Amino acid sequence: MTKKKHVHIFGIGSGIGQGLYNRFLEDKSASLFGFSRKGKLPLSHFSNGEAGAFQFDATDQKDLRSFEHSLTSLFGHHILPTAPFYNRPDLIVYFALGDGIFGPIDLLKKKELESHFELNVHSLILLSKYYSQHLPFFTNATFVFLGSTAGKQGFPESVAYCASKHAVLGIARALREEWKPYGTKVVHVSLGAVATEIWDTRPEFDKNEMVSVSDISEYLWCISQLPKSIFVDDLSITPKKGIL
Ligand SMILES: NC(=O)c1ccc[n+]([C@@H]2O[C@H](COP(=O)([O-])OP(=O)(O)OC[C@H]3O[C@@H](n4cnc5c(N)ncnc54)[C@H](OP(=O)(O)O)[C@@H]3O)[C@@H](O)[C@H]2O)c1
Repeated sequence: MTKKKHVHIFGIGSGIGQGLYNRFLEDKSASLFGFSRKGKLPLSHFSNGEAGAFQFDATDQKDLRSFEHSLTSLFGHHILPTAPFYNRPDLIVYFALGDGIFGPIDLLKKKELESHFELNVHSLILLSKYYSQHLPFFTNATFVFLGSTAGKQGFPESVAYCASKHAVLGIARALREEWKPYGTKVVHVSLGAVATEIWDTRPEFDKNEMVSVSDISEYLWCISQLPKSIFVDDLSITPKKGIL
């Protein structure tokens, strides 16, 4: 709990989350905590307050419970409420985990649908719930939800993905209102195509036409640098071509 800024990034195993984690490694003002199934450190070490990349499966009940308890150990009663306000770290949380599910609706399987929603929607709500009880003790807290163009408009063969990304927008909008009394910033980012593994099963889309992981990582890192009185609701980015 030494640095003034705590950064938590979910989904650092690959793609955008990994790029963002690497970008924050260059930012010496941040204590950096990353989470994904491929993390190096056991999740039990998170409660020690040492920065690092932790093993965390956002669809595993045991991991979710353990994460909730670790947050309480880190930010719970014995640390923050007794610390003077000027001594409390800023908190910035990025939700960059998720998967894609594409294909005609006739071929959609119930099990795939359930696991897609468990990861892309339920885990975001549960994680937000665990943070919520600690927000009154942060002067500056920011949550960044990585949404998609598919959260604002429809695409063929994407019914589950469009539904889950519309839900992410709904979660961000609802929490922004609910957390207003604490001054918490909630930013929703509608992402256009970014060249990550999520596109590997869709060779009809050319990764050369997409935003690069390093560029999007730089853009997302900039959100952590916003002046304190600036509240950004909704950001939209696309590659040069717009929607591919
Ligand atoms: N790429 C795009 O064009 C694009 C556009 C719009 C929105 N987005 C959204 O941005 C987010 C990241 O996408 P991406 O392109 O970076 O995809 P990606 O490369 O497939 O990354 C997905 C991330 O989620 C983590 N993850 C998957 N299942 C998990 C689980 N059960 N528990 C914890 N972490 C889990 C993965 O790490 P582990 O495998 O180590 O767990 C990985 O870090 C997604 O929500 C995606 O919908 C992407």
